[in-house]
Amino acid sequence: MRHLIAGNWKMNGLAAEATALAEAVAQGASAVSADLVVCPPATVLARVAQSLAGTPVGVGGQDCNAAASGAHTGDIAAAMLRDCGATWVILGHSERRADHHETDDMVRQKVRAATEHGLVPIVCVGETEAQRQAGRHAETVGWQIAGSLPKDFAGVLAYEPIWAIGTGRTPTEAEVAEMHGFIRGELRRQLGAAGQAVRILYGGSVKPANAAALMALPEVGGALVGGASLMAADFLGIARAAGALSKPGAGG
Ligand code: PGA
Repeated sequence: MRHLIAGNWKMNGLAAEATALAEAVAQGASAVSADLVVCPPATVLARVAQSLAGTPVGVGGQDCNAAASGAHTGDIAAAMLRDCGATWVILGHSERRADHHETDDMVRQKVRAATEHGLVPIVCVGETEAQRQAGRHAETVGWQIAGSLPKDFAGVLAYEPIWAIGTGRTPTEAEVAEMHGFIRGELRRQLGAAGQAVRILYGGSVKPANAAALMALPEVGGALVGGASLMAADFLGIARAAGALSKPGAGG
């Protein structure tokens, strides 16, 4: 299966720079054999989707409310993301879990809403540094998967150790391989055969320099990229490293 490289632009990008970044990504996309998605802030989503129409680059939101519509000031419904041209959505990112007190239960309800409205959810899980030091990383992620994914989940899972996000630090290759193997086992155990089809992304300080090594690991099906997705050259560099590995049967 091809790798999926998703860019999480977080709270970055006014209209002009967002459009320029999207266009630069689109220009390099056809030369890359990985699936590409960019997730801009909601304010520029429609504009970015318009400039990427007809290109192979998909567009995603960074969150959605679980409700279809109604009294949720400041929130965005899945149907609204779809209406703007998104077909993907990041859910349960650790920054939303921390800043907006999102629980596994809330994330699971958002996943349902996203799926009902034709968005592919990219659900994020990952341990804190304290949980890893206490040897509780696998247990933590196992519970997050159990709580955040509905039993009929058909989306993407992103393993993002919180201590690796935006820090320039990553787990060792052995640690990433161990966690992705564990996550595949949990997906199979919790979702049955459907758990085999879920792409598992690694996220946390992915850069062009470490992408080839990380993307080659067993059960790593792509990357969720934050900081390096804000530079088209870096994002495409990661995609090229992944694409070079995307042979039939490789990558997971
Ligand atoms: P980073 O962010 O690549 O800047 O570490 C990853 C993420 O938060 O998804």
